[in-house]
Amino acid sequence: MTDENTQAQQTEADKRQNPLGMHDILPDMHEYFTYIKKVVRHRARQAGYKRITTPILEFTDVFQRGIGDATDIVGKEMYTFTDRNERSLTMKPESTAGVVRAYIQHGMKEWPQPVQLYYIEPHFRYDKPQKGRYRQFWQIGLEIIGESDPALDAQVIDLANRINQDLGIAHLFTIQINNIGCPKCRGKYKQDLVNFYIGKERSLCEDCQNRLHKNPLRLLDCKQEDCQILAQLAPKFDQYRCPECKEFHTKLKDYLTELKIEFVENPKLVRGLDYYTGTVFEVWDKTQGAQNAIGGGGRYDGLAELMGGLPTPGVGYAAGIERIIANMKKENVRVPSKDDIHIFVAQLGDDAKKKCLTLLNDLRERGVKAVGALGKGSMKAQLRLADKFKVPYTLILGITEVREGVIIIRNMAKGQQRTVPHDTVIEEVIKLIGDDKLDKYSPGEVLY
Ligand code: HAM
Repeated sequence: MTDENTQAQQTEADKRQNPLGMHDILPDMHEYFTYIKKVVRHRARQAGYKRITTPILEFTDVFQRGIGDATDIVGKEMYTFTDRNERSLTMKPESTAGVVRAYIQHGMKEWPQPVQLYYIEPHFRYDKPQKGRYRQFWQIGLEIIGESDPALDAQVIDLANRINQDLGIAHLFTIQINNIGCPKCRGKYKQDLVNFYIGKERSLCEDCQNRLHKNPLRLLDCKQEDCQILAQLAPKFDQYRCPECKEFHTKLKDYLTELKIEFVENPKLVRGLDYYTGTVFEVWDKTQGAQNAIGGGGRYDGLAELMGGLPTPGVGYAAGIERIIANMKKENVRVPSKDDIHIFVAQLGDDAKKKCLTLLNDLRERGVKAVGALGKGSMKAQLRLADKFKVPYTLILGITEVREGVIIIRNMAKGQQRTVPHDTVIEEVIKLIGDDKLDKYSPGEVLY
């Protein structure tokens, strides 16, 4: 692996950094993650999707067969290694292939069809790190497996759009759609495309020269200027689409119109994974186009067979969570913080410390988010800490308070204090915070 972070070149300072293209998710970013997960779970559940998590590692074959040997992902970007048993394993660069593997493995064709699954997962691609492009990134994803109908494609696009609306960023994007045909109509087109490019290879970028015979459709959506000029002149797929694919695409557009979803027809949209058949779509940034696509998807009716299963159609979508967050921040979309602390408990003396341990537990049981300074700091130092936590109230328990069975409630903003009997303090605190602000765990509700 040649990389600026090879073991040999790694300096002492590098060892204290995360690997290039990977990042820590710090608490403020987790607030966005939590919110996005909540929106996705809510919308997916409403539409009957169930959650799936496939392993981080799959046998390499799953991606080689599924995504395709000639793609950038399989050719250049996978984290692949041999395990102690000489089996080749790969850290998942995407989830669709693994989800289809799971569909086959667990006999999901016996479940009510189509099977609708969603995921919120980390993925790994040895990509060139830059803004919005990482080597570990998170995706939210939706898959509908087991039936082929343009109404399902429309529903996936609708749900993707609805999620973006809920997150306050849909207006920044356009939905680009295309239909890249089935193996029947695409075969002849691919041949004519190769014939068109033969003799013009020198005008193509290096990647496109390599792709020409392996994956000629990718030449259409290359971002290099010279390749784009040639792509404009290349034969158009429209004239090759078979009647079935034409009808499927027309119906999809009808359904999207019915759902009042704006879309742009983009005959050059191809996507970078080989498993697609028919519908493909991408959610493009209105100003930067494909450069900053937030998500993409399409139909993959041949994928299950490629993986050794029975013919099983499918359609799906995935979007990058880091890119979603960057756009939410750009739009000043704020998410509610659930991490703010209600109460700080300050104490002085051994007896007070003991009482504080129970007090903290009792407060938390009632839904009051409470932290305490149980170290050895002075009262002044503890109050400074309380300020840093930005709590509205601090409870103060010293030697005198323990002896008298009372506790001090300090209003941090006003600097005012009052003393209440110890056994009434929890009710007093709840009155001050407000019942609706408590962080209650209701039995029966599963928390993630
Ligand atoms: P994809 O277009 O490769 O599709 O990835 C979907 C989204 O994941 C991208 O639009 C982008 O937001 C995010 N993404 C991809 N690579 C990176 C990266 N290196 N850094 C940050 N974000 C990234 C798929 O993965 C397909 N499995 C989608 C699908 C689902 N098709 C059918 N079902």
